Amino acid sequence: MVAISEKVEPRLTIQTVEIAPNTTAIRSLDWDRDRFDIEFGLQNGTTYNSYLIRGEQTVLIDTSHQKFRQLYLDTLKGLVNPKTIDYIIVSHTEPDHSGLVEDVLQLAPRATVLASKVALQFLEGLVHDPFSKRIVKSGDRIDIGKGHEIEFVSAPNLHWPDTIFSFDRKTQILYTCDAFGMHFCDSRTFDEDLEAIEADFRFYYDCLMGPNARSLLNAMKRMGDLGKIQIIANGHGPLLYHHLDVLTECYKTWSQRQATAETVVGLFYVSGYGHSDRLAHAIGDGLQKAGVGVEVIDLHTAELQEIQELAGRASGLIIGMPPTSSIVAQAGISSLLSVAKNKQVVGLFESYGGDDEPIDTLRRKFIDLGIKEAFPAIRIKEVPGESTYKSCEEAGTDLGQLVMRERNIKQIKSLDVNMEKALGRISSGLYIVTAKKGDVSGAMIASWVTQASLQPLGFTIAVAKDRAIDSLLQIGDRFVLNVLEEGNYQDLKKHFLKRLHPGADRFAGVKTQTAKNGSPILTDALAYMECEVVTSMECSDHWILYCTVEDGRVSKPEAVTAVRHRKVGNYY
Ligand code: FEO
Repeated sequence: MVAISEKVEPRLTIQTVEIAPNTTAIRSLDWDRDRFDIEFGLQNGTTYNSYLIRGEQTVLIDTSHQKFRQLYLDTLKGLVNPKTIDYIIVSHTEPDHSGLVEDVLQLAPRATVLASKVALQFLEGLVHDPFSKRIVKSGDRIDIGKGHEIEFVSAPNLHWPDTIFSFDRKTQILYTCDAFGMHFCDSRTFDEDLEAIEADFRFYYDCLMGPNARSLLNAMKRMGDLGKIQIIANGHGPLLYHHLDVLTECYKTWSQRQATAETVVGLFYVSGYGHSDRLAHAIGDGLQKAGVGVEVIDLHTAELQEIQELAGRASGLIIGMPPTSSIVAQAGISSLLSVAKNKQVVGLFESYGGDDEPIDTLRRKFIDLGIKEAFPAIRIKEVPGESTYKSCEEAGTDLGQLVMRERNIKQIKSLDVNMEKALGRISSGLYIVTAKKGDVSGAMIASWVTQASLQPLGFTIAVAKDRAIDSLLQIGDRFVLNVLEEGNYQDLKKHFLKRLHPGADRFAGVKTQTAKNGSPILTDALAYMECEVVTSMECSDHWILYCTVEDGRVSKPEAVTAVRHRKVGNYY
């Protein structure tokens, strides 16, 4: 039974659904959320899922985002007398799920908050009045009657340090909050339409979960001990039921690939401080594009040995400046410095937290150790927006490419010479893809482009996973394909091959016009097409995008397309 309550303002709605006996999902549907957070790149909105289980005692799992305050609290009061809530389980303390815990506690004075030790520490800073609380860890259980026994599973660092999963033995529902979620807003409660959600599911994994692949595999191992799981009741998007096995298997495969990467970069920062989480996610996303394994450590909660172990074996170190006031994080940085080696590369960022440790002092210490800086320190001076996150992502990719360089050169040399020469005889044209989304624009030279359909007119293009433009070429995105002219392309080619610092304007000094779809057209190109990405296929180190053409023009009818002949096929 589904009940949609009235809209309080455009595009914020709440859905309540009975998903199992005595179990109600309260889904806050945020149809329009699409900006600023890099993981919302697919622009399909999101949901914040909360759950109510009514045995002889009543349990509320997570709440909602502050923007749903009135709507959520009214809905909750319509379902249950809040005074009868016995437990509030807080899966982790990020505000999109715990933002209304304080409000609910005011309505439910007898409720005890159940959370991990770290989450309760965070929560004490967020909730102003004293409240009843209990630490829970793996294996702990509460019996709330009517057969509902809830077991807790520690799942730290997914993607916050304080996460727990909860498993109801009666309904075999596992409540995972961020893990196994997706930013996809739809009135369908479950995952029946795999095709509609798979791109968002993957994109979300890459942005939020990929950098925590080891933690995820550990959590999945613990999930394996729970027995049959019927439903994964996540915190964002449709719940996993129809395709639960396929989607959890995807998580396993992607995480194993990440966790076994030979080259690892350590990402050290203080979670929940300033804008550090979003910035770190963006950098982590960029690192993954370069094919490196990313391991994340929260300087505030990690053990010193853990910090040293990762800092000692990582090829690259990325550090978000901790608050000056955090003695624990300062100690973490000192222990990290004590094992840093001159073969490593480093990248530093400050998170606009107001109390950041000075970046230059630490930077100088790394330089004195002979450690190379992979990108200029990222200094956030105002609230970060889309272009800041994009620059962070590019910085991550730069560092990733730097640490992967030696290995990639080795791989290029190790292929079969005859085979690679034969492959090199596949020739292609020369193009420049240009795209703009919000404040962010990008470009890349492309040559693996080929027509793929007549009706509609469509083509495919191969985009290497470490391309910065990748986030502007998601399904549904629009861009321009500029065709270069034979005998008249060197200037454009040279310009767009130049390496720039993260955040630099790719189009400075180039003549452009604006296409109807908003992307730049290169005035000196032979032809252009306005295109839309329709589908994508993952092919090892590239994405193959199938795109349709919506408009186009040729500037010189007699001229021909620049052709690229190569000698070998194992690099560009
Ligand atoms: Fe969806 Fe970690 O909050």
